[in-house]
Amino acid sequence: MKYKTVKDLDVKDKRVLVRVDYNVPIHDGEVGDTLRIEASFETLNYLLDQGCSLVLMTSAGRPEGKVVPELSLAPIAKKTAELLGRPVSFIPECVGPQAMAAAKALRPGDIIMLENLRFDPDEEENAPAFARQLADLGEVYVDDAFANIHRKHASMVGIPEFLPGGIGFLVEKELEHIGGALDKPVRPLVAIIGGAKVSSKIEVVDNLMKYVNKLVIGGAMANTFLAAQGHEVGKSKQDEKDYEIALRVLADAQEVGVEVVLPVDVLVSKSVDKGPAKLVDLKEVGKDDYIVDIGPKTVSKMVNPLEFDGSVIWNGPLGITEVPEFAKYTHLLAENIIDSGASCIVGGGDTAAFVDEAGMHDKFTWVSTGGGASLELMAGRELPGLEALKA
Ligand code: 3PG
Repeated sequence: MKYKTVKDLDVKDKRVLVRVDYNVPIHDGEVGDTLRIEASFETLNYLLDQGCSLVLMTSAGRPEGKVVPELSLAPIAKKTAELLGRPVSFIPECVGPQAMAAAKALRPGDIIMLENLRFDPDEEENAPAFARQLADLGEVYVDDAFANIHRKHASMVGIPEFLPGGIGFLVEKELEHIGGALDKPVRPLVAIIGGAKVSSKIEVVDNLMKYVNKLVIGGAMANTFLAAQGHEVGKSKQDEKDYEIALRVLADAQEVGVEVVLPVDVLVSKSVDKGPAKLVDLKEVGKDDYIVDIGPKTVSKMVNPLEFDGSVIWNGPLGITEVPEFAKYTHLLAENIIDSGASCIVGGGDTAAFVDEAGMHDKFTWVSTGGGASLELMAGRELPGLEALKA
């Protein structure tokens, strides 16, 4: 193991600074999806069992260094207390006299949560003085914020300069599941990559090519590939400047023997916001159509539950899943994967939101809590939060 884990650290009776990622939706002061909060509880409970007191810190949203009242963590602290079944005191600043006084007053088993780290520009700028002030609030540092592990921010990479630190159980599991799916897969290994932009996912696709047997491309990404091959995609979202990359990926795949699956039938609509939608073969897409989802023939080419005995990595929805009518075949694909009994790792962000919404979360082998972070890991990039904790 390259990184110390929470179990390697001397935490007994210590004041532990825990970086979590509770970047969860808040609407009218109410917390929506709580999975990211609950995903940290194994680490928190372990530390509490060791007689620790906890200083929880997280960022939420993108307030860009300013105080944005709607992004205050007060509702998240309240929700955390409710779910954890213990008091969590909210501190309305992340560094300063109040935070210091509250940290110093902690007794074993006490928990405080600091205000949104990104209210201070020094967090994203990784200012050493800010990291030092945060570090002064604790004696040991634990990073369990997998969703933020690709960010070079003070609470991720600055604090370990001043405190002994290691990763929490969630980060450890994310690395094991996503890393293991690539390194020791049950073959054939299929990567399903959806989402919007080709260029932002091209490194992921390139890296995955080294591991997978089949590459399935859906979502707006597929539109760019199809248009690059000369297919009509109507008014669908696509990116002309990525044609060259798309064609290069297809040529590379052929060279290394990776099968690429692109949509052969699609759902089209005259609007991206609402139906009606019509199922057509790819060659029937009209100039004023929007492609809003894949079709059933495509789904069975992607993963046929009756034949498939491999494993799957899935990152990115294949249709405009926010509109229920346009989520039908992404849903069917999810069902096929589940019915095949294959191990499937779901990358976070929109794909995780989709499987949660569909009530399928527990049916997948692992649903990552990280959106960008899981992509960066799949792209084989260095993750600053981990680098900062190398043993
Ligand atoms: C996430 O939601 O992926 C993390 O909280 C990181 O958020 P960010 O993309 O705003 O850095």
